Amino acid sequence: MQVSDVLPPTMFAGKTVFVTGGGSGINLGVARNFAALGASLGICGRTAERLESARAELEGLGAKVSTSVADVRDYDALAAALETTRTELGPIDVLVCGAAGNFLAPAEAMSANGFKTVVEIDLIGSFNASRAAFEQLKETRGTILFISAPQGSVPHFAQAHCGAAKAGVDNLMRNLALEWGRYGIRSNGIVPGPIAGTEGMKRLGPQDDKANAEIQATIPLGTYGSVDDIGQAAVFLASPLASYVTGALLTVDGGAYLGGTRLMAHKIQSMLAQQKGRGDG
Ligand code: COA
Ligand code: NAP
Repeated sequence: MQVSDVLPPTMFAGKTVFVTGGGSGINLGVARNFAALGASLGICGRTAERLESARAELEGLGAKVSTSVADVRDYDALAAALETTRTELGPIDVLVCGAAGNFLAPAEAMSANGFKTVVEIDLIGSFNASRAAFEQLKETRGTILFISAPQGSVPHFAQAHCGAAKAGVDNLMRNLALEWGRYGIRSNGIVPGPIAGTEGMKRLGPQDDKANAEIQATIPLGTYGSVDDIGQAAVFLASPLASYVTGALLTVDGGAYLGGTRLMAHKIQSMLAQQKGRGDG
C-alpha cells in the first residue's frame, strides 16, 4: 500500500517539509511519504553523497528538493540550511527533527564525551532545529514532528545516553506544544518500535535470523515495522486530520512495548498452547 492510494496525492502540494537527518532510514521514509503527497522537501545531514542519493529518490517521486550539509549541533549551519530551503522552496510548513546518533554502551563503560555526543545530536539538535525554524513555522502556522524512541520512556540496557536524550526530546516536544500553540504551531512526537532494515536496528538489534524471529514472535502484531509505517504516522500528524492534536506522542510499534512484559506474555501463550495440546487447557 502506498500513502497516495489512500490519501489525495496533492494533500501536501505547495507545502514545504524540512527533515533533519533526512538522507537515510526512517527519516528518508518520512520524506518519501510527504513527497508522494505533493510536498517539497528540504533535507539536511552531515554527508553530501547520502543527501544527493536521497535527492534523486525524492525527485523521482516528483518532489522539488533542497539539500544542505549541516550538523544539527551547529546552530548557524542549521539556520543557514533552513534559510536556503526557504529561498529554494518557500517557508517551512512541517519540521521533522529526526537526526540522531546511537550505539550500544553500558553506562560504566561509556565516556563522558560519548554520552554528551548523543545528547547533543538528539536533544540539543532538536531544539536547534525547532528554534531556527520558529519564524518560518510561525508564518505558516506549521507543525513540528519529533522522531523519538522507546528508550525515552522505558530504560534499555546500554542505552543511558539515548534514553536521557529522547526523554528530553519528548518533554521539549510538550513544552513547545504549550508555548507555541498560541502561534498555531502544533508539536508532536512519534515513537517508532523496531523498524526493519534501518541503521538503528543494525546497531542495536540482533544480527541473526533466529533471534530476530524470536523477538518478532513477542510483538503483538508479529513483525518489525517498516519505514513507511512511520512515514504514514508523520503524514497523519502533519495533516489537517490532526489539526487539534498537539503535545501528543504517537507510538507506532505493533504493540511491542505494551506493558513491558511481552516476553512473559509470549511464554504464557506457549504454556497455554502446550496445555491445550495435552488436553488440559
Ligand atoms: N561505544 C562507545 N562509545 C562510542 C561508540 C561506541 N560504539 N561510538 C562512539 N563513541 C564515543 C567515542 O568514543 C567518543 O567519545 P571519546 O571522545 O570519549 O572517545 C564519542 O562517542 C564521540 O564519538 P565521535 O565518533 O567523535 O562522534 P561523531 O560525532 O563523529 O559521531 C556517533 C556520532 C558516535 C553517534 C556516530 O555513531 C554517528 O555518527 N551516528 C549516526 C548514525 C546513527 O547512529 N544511526 C542510528 C540512529 S538510531
Ligand atoms: P539513520 O539512518 O542512521 O538516521 C539518522 C540520520 O541522521 C542519518 O541520515 C544521519 O546522516 C543523520 N545524522 C546523524 N547525526 C547527525 C548530525 N549530527 N547532524 C545532522 N544529521 C545527522 O538511522 P535510523 O535508524 O533510520 O533512525 C532515524 C531516527 O529514528 C532516529 O531519530 C532514531 O533515534 C529513531 N528511531 C529508530 C528506530 C529504529 O528501529 N531504527 C527505532 C526508534 C527510533 P549523516 O550521518 O550523514 O549525518
